[in-house]
Amino acid sequence: MSNKVTLQYADKSYEFPVLTGTENESAIEIAKLRAQTGLITFDEGFRNTGSTVSNITFLDGEKGILRYRGYDIDDLANKASFVEVAYLLIYGELPTAAQLKAYEEELTMHTLVHENLKKVFDVFPSGSHPMGQLMTMMSCLSSFYPNSLNPNSNPDETNLTISRLLAKMPTICAMIQKKGKGHPVLYPQNKYDYVTNFLYMTFGNVSEEFVADPVVVDAMNKLLILHADHEQNCSTSTVRIVGSSHANLYASIAAGVAALWGPRHGGANQEVLEMLEGIRDNDNGDVKKVLQEVKDKKRLLMGFGHRVYRNFDPRAKILKASCDSILSKLGKTDPLLNIAMELEAAALNDPYFVERKLYPNVDFYSGIIYKALGFPTQMFTVLFALGRLPGWIAQWKEMREHKEDIGRPRQVYNGPAQRSFPSIADRK
Ligand code: CMC
Repeated sequence: MSNKVTLQYADKSYEFPVLTGTENESAIEIAKLRAQTGLITFDEGFRNTGSTVSNITFLDGEKGILRYRGYDIDDLANKASFVEVAYLLIYGELPTAAQLKAYEEELTMHTLVHENLKKVFDVFPSGSHPMGQLMTMMSCLSSFYPNSLNPNSNPDETNLTISRLLAKMPTICAMIQKKGKGHPVLYPQNKYDYVTNFLYMTFGNVSEEFVADPVVVDAMNKLLILHADHEQNCSTSTVRIVGSSHANLYASIAAGVAALWGPRHGGANQEVLEMLEGIRDNDNGDVKKVLQEVKDKKRLLMGFGHRVYRNFDPRAKILKASCDSILSKLGKTDPLLNIAMELEAAALNDPYFVERKLYPNVDFYSGIIYKALGFPTQMFTVLFALGRLPGWIAQWKEMREHKEDIGRPRQVYNGPAQRSFPSIADRK
């Protein structure tokens, strides 16, 4: 197969190299396109545009494959801890036992947040959305660590920032939930591992001994791993493009949180649960009616469809398998799960959905599990962010190490051509 592409334009012929990755995904390299031809490419939504050459995550949307650094998501979700996966994503290899122990200790030493950060929560009105609070807290961290604002500083300083972010994120996420409920905030406890500490700070109570439920710890660990990276999605591309201006890591992550919040991306997990509750309460559980409204383009099915996965979302497959067992181990049943199953079965057999390759995505099941674990619905996207943090960090770090250029797309201008400036009296 040729490793060049020929473009014919205005009686001239141009050749462009084809790049091929380790999984044989190929791309036309057009760095010199505009200089040579005067043309740019136009690809709304970047459906066909590669923005980087990355070594972190591979996904094949047709085959439903997802791998972090070459390891299958199934293996990682079932055999690794979240901190192990974070280390893998950020530093490229699975840690040895000694490296893992040292890394866990390192993170434990950074879990506390500055006392003044807590005061920021006091200014939020009650009911303010947890994702808005999380975004603010990520930006605030930059104020507390002015020495680590220079992304061109030495690797030790960058690694310290990475550890601080990873360690403080569960503390901050738990504080958001506690503050939202008006409950006292719990300080992290060094005796707990990363996930248990998060659950302790979120669900523990100052007046009682906390006993971690291994089913909940295991489910949380799995959920975080499944969300840990997903190559160049909306929030990750945002983190990379913000970082490409040499913005510091805290600012880049705050931007990633903002992008994740949208209902077309991470915000979908909250919307899935609200949709299921709406079907139960407002549509009398009438799934057929809902599907007809979707076909009439009157509503979207939240938790369905994916820009890249066109046959199934491997994360959804793992969660679907876990959902039942987690609920039964927790001794919980949820009528919303029945509505979800009915919706899924109907959609998977209906030609409208089959033709459009619309399948449940990761957000379809995660909300039901988060609900069973006891999280308020508005916290769901915060949990997505907690899981995605190592991926954002890994992608930011890779972008800096590859010395990538500032991200600056072009456009096709389609507004008015040049016109003369009218005085205010002449304007209609
Ligand atoms: N419900 C109903 N119809 C849909 C949906 C949906 N969720 N998603 C796509 N379609 C239709 C779309 O209207 C189009 O129909 P037609 O061909 O008649 O115009 C067809 O399916 C093809 O869709 P598409 O344009 O190829 O989809 P997209 O790649 O532009 O959008 C998406 C991907 C995720 C933004 C979209 O599917 C969506 O909005 N889904 C609901 C939100 C959601 O669950 N988001 C979470 C994504 S997974 C978590 C993450 O990684 O962020």
